[in-house]
Amino acid sequence: MASATQQQQHRRAMAVVLAVLLTAMPMRAASGGCEGDKFPAGRSYAHCAALPKLGARLHWTHDARTGSLSVAFVARPAGAGGAGWAAWAINPAGDGMKGAQALVAFRPSPAAPYAVNTYNITGYKPFGASSTAIAFRPTELAADDVAAAGEVRLYGKLQLAPGTEVVNHLWQVGSAVTAGAPAKHAFDKDNLEAKGKLALSGAALAPAPAPAAAGAGGSSAAKGSSAGGATTPSGAKPSPAKAAAAAPVLMLLALAVGFIATV
Ligand SMILES: *[C@@H]1O[C@H](CO)[C@@H](O)[C@H](O)[C@H]1NC(C)=O
Repeated sequence: MASATQQQQHRRAMAVVLAVLLTAMPMRAASGGCEGDKFPAGRSYAHCAALPKLGARLHWTHDARTGSLSVAFVARPAGAGGAGWAAWAINPAGDGMKGAQALVAFRPSPAAPYAVNTYNITGYKPFGASSTAIAFRPTELAADDVAAAGEVRLYGKLQLAPGTEVVNHLWQVGSAVTAGAPAKHAFDKDNLEAKGKLALSGAALAPAPAPAAAGAGGSSAAKGSSAGGATTPSGAKPSPAKAAAAAPVLMLLALAVGFIATV
């Protein structure tokens, strides 16, 4: 029979366990932002990466055999109340804006529903109101908004070359739509650094190789290796950040359980 003191100790140990669990939960919910994205029925994705700039997230499913890439890009357009546009692109020719094959979600007029245009970005000139053809056959383009968060979700499927494993991707938000076309975005640090490499398998990319490893003349991969370029996907496997946060919690739990077992 347990004495009154032992019962008290048990209760105290249980309180510790509960407190630890309760404090750990909000920490998980807030990490990265991927977990908070809830899509309409029928839209689910194998992987998600909380992108390092502009608070954006990319969810995707990649069929390595066929090259089909299905994405949902979530971001907050830069205008007041979420006005403006949001874009996600793959650049098969380099790591910058020139050459990017972009999907852009915006309301052609303030009262219109969201539309998605495609643009083959050939240089630093304004977008038109109409789509231009892109290299990756786009299908199932759609967009909706999460009004409460002022965010837009851009959906689409792109046909990549089978065998593609890593792509240069970039993302952007703008604050205005003028004459039915997305207007120029800001050129702040975060806007300019909103790019990186994406491993379609969902694996975390290793840090960029040291400059000495790059070939003569400097490859575009070495140039694109600025801090924050590589994204940290959070698919089936926990991200290192999450694992780090969970470790002390697990240790405390183990201690508490050990405490109960010894009393
Ligand atoms: C995109 O623009 C470039 C430059 O004008 C052109 O060479 C390329 O063929 C275009 N891509 C498509 C899919 O039209």
